[in-house]
Amino acid sequence: MAPVKITISLIKADIGSIGGHTRTCDGVTDIVRQTVAAGQKSGLIIDYKLWNAGDDTEILMTHTKGVDNEEIHRLAYNALKKGADSAHERGLYGAGQDLLKDAFSGNVRGMGPGAAEIEFEERPAEPFVAFAADKTAPGAFNYPIFRIFADPFNTAGLVIDQKLHDGFNFEVYDIKGNKKVLLQAPQEYYDLVALVGATEDYVIKRVFSKDEKLGPAAVISTEKLYAVAGKYVGKDDPVAIVRAQSGFPATGEVLEGFALGHLVTGWMRGSHNGPLMPVPLRYSQCTRFDGPPRITGLAFSMKNGRLTEPLDVFDDPAWDSTRERCMYVVDYLRRHGPFEPHRLPPASMEYTTLPVVLDRLKSRFKPIK
Ligand code: F6R
Ligand code: MG
Ligand code: MG
Repeated sequence: MAPVKITISLIKADIGSIGGHTRTCDGVTDIVRQTVAAGQKSGLIIDYKLWNAGDDTEILMTHTKGVDNEEIHRLAYNALKKGADSAHERGLYGAGQDLLKDAFSGNVRGMGPGAAEIEFEERPAEPFVAFAADKTAPGAFNYPIFRIFADPFNTAGLVIDQKLHDGFNFEVYDIKGNKKVLLQAPQEYYDLVALVGATEDYVIKRVFSKDEKLGPAAVISTEKLYAVAGKYVGKDDPVAIVRAQSGFPATGEVLEGFALGHLVTGWMRGSHNGPLMPVPLRYSQCTRFDGPPRITGLAFSMKNGRLTEPLDVFDDPAWDSTRERCMYVVDYLRRHGPFEPHRLPPASMEYTTLPVVLDRLKSRFKPIK
């Protein structure tokens, strides 16, 4: 009998938050949990965990239905919808903002929520880390994922562990062109950097081990809410699942990818650059200039789809220096006010008055001779 494959589905949405775009409301999360728990009781899912990245509700589920499964997506959508109704009743800010359709239609993709899903045969011990970010965009994961799976200055195992020495394959999405390409590292290292260094245009969607038995190593949500809705409705606030150890980077190498506090887009009104600050769940709330952009991480072990309790990976003084550097960068960038590169270039801004200003000034613009 073929071994059972387990799928981890991480589905998220901003369905409303307390006092602005800050943090989810516990009462609403409890409502979301009731529906997800019923899904476990009915046997549809094996296990689950809910948490928040700032104003986003994260639902992690394990099951055997594979990726893009209609029943699993419906369960998550219905849970988020009930949460959104409760958020409306409580007068939460942005209640239901990421749920763009009232009725579920087969798959959460294109309906507002973000999703990262990964299916594989469990190893005897299956450690993985689930990451969820707020006030940023899918390209925020390019830098750490590239460093984790392709850069020996981050991941020692790429050089000194025979199981990682062949490198990894990267599936890269051209998000504006709606195309994808598979690149090999280290063989196509410079081509890979040429693409994924342009974080607004190319995003890493998946990483695969070259050992087919191990299969997928990481997956990142790539939904661009702006593109889905055709107008600004909220942030993309991406999530990722990264498998660790025994043929994959060690958990410490995975986390090391976040040690810089690298610059990402998506802060304040989706229109500013800022550092991505790794935080424990107790600091998963965005308060300074609606930020700074934050990343949470929960590590789990899993057996037959059953999860251990989560380890809140950034809840460690080892991350204090990264947080301090982030806040130094915050102060520095904020002094630029509405000037680039703190403010994003016009094409990447999610809020802009530029067309209105240009229209008003139209007749006053004269050719430069
Ligand atoms: C939302 C976000 C915020 C909002 C800002 C303005 O996740 O990042 O920075 O863009 O608070 O929000 P509105 O337009 O709703 O007043
Ligand atoms: Mg929000
Ligand atoms: Mg958010």
